[in-house]
Amino acid sequence: MTLNSVSALYFSPGGSTRAAARAVAGGAGGEYRDCDFTSRADSLGFGENDLVVFAAPVFGGRIPAPFAGFLDSVTGRGSPAVVLAVYGNRDYDDALLELAGCVKARGFRVVAAGAFIARHSMVPEIASGRPDAADRDAMAAFGAAVRAKLAADDFSEPAIPGGRPYKEYNGVPLHPSANRQRCVKCGKCARECPVGAIPEDAPYRTDNKKCITCMHCVCACPNYARGLNPLMLAATRTMLKKACAARREPETFI
Ligand SMILES: Cc1cc2nc3c(=O)[nH]c(=O)nc-3n(C[C@H](O)[C@H](O)[C@H](O)COP(=O)(O)O)c2cc1C
Repeated sequence: MTLNSVSALYFSPGGSTRAAARAVAGGAGGEYRDCDFTSRADSLGFGENDLVVFAAPVFGGRIPAPFAGFLDSVTGRGSPAVVLAVYGNRDYDDALLELAGCVKARGFRVVAAGAFIARHSMVPEIASGRPDAADRDAMAAFGAAVRAKLAADDFSEPAIPGGRPYKEYNGVPLHPSANRQRCVKCGKCARECPVGAIPEDAPYRTDNKKCITCMHCVCACPNYARGLNPLMLAATRTMLKKACAARREPETFI
């Protein structure tokens, strides 16, 4: 088949998933359309010659629940799709399989899947510097391999790792809060929070029941006013550093 268009569609609170989606889409098509589904969903339809690279970060071995919901506004008509899971060097568990299931339910044909490693957004010392040059080469080469597969009219679905029922994930007991001295109440964090957990006029009152600890408010704040409690983070850091000690490498399924 000849591709009409290539799109990178991602949920990326900290920016790493966006980088992976763009690198794979760039490898597949050169030019691509950028669809940022981090803070909101757009209603989008794709035709049978439109390739979409769907990318999610891994949270507790799953894809973030709001992204799964946002995908309900995307429709394919047998359109080819690539699914990507981007994770912080621990594991992606069932995230890739879950994302594949979501996009197939929306009318896409999953022709390839990839799991790539990026800096851990809660504990940035873990996998710091990733994706590195070798990771970026692997992403671009993967995109090119997808293009070649489609050019050969091969729409087969690869075996994707993961199991059902999906791993249970109920969030983490850590939530970013605002430093009152630094916060200027500009409202950016509130406007961009994917789950509407931050009131625009009172950003100190984060709703921890809604918050999914995606870290987007921490990354988006122009005044570096938001962060996790350092004492509580210390315990998570120790636990995660053990679980993430060995360097993991990209995996692709095509
Ligand atoms: C709440 C939360 C849960 C996470 N769970 C996992 C996990 O289960 N496995 C893993 O390897 N990384 C995990 N990570 C790390 C992210 O998957 C990783 O940093 C990813 O690159 C973030 O993407 P982003 O920069 O696009 O937000 C988690 C991060 C957060 C904030």
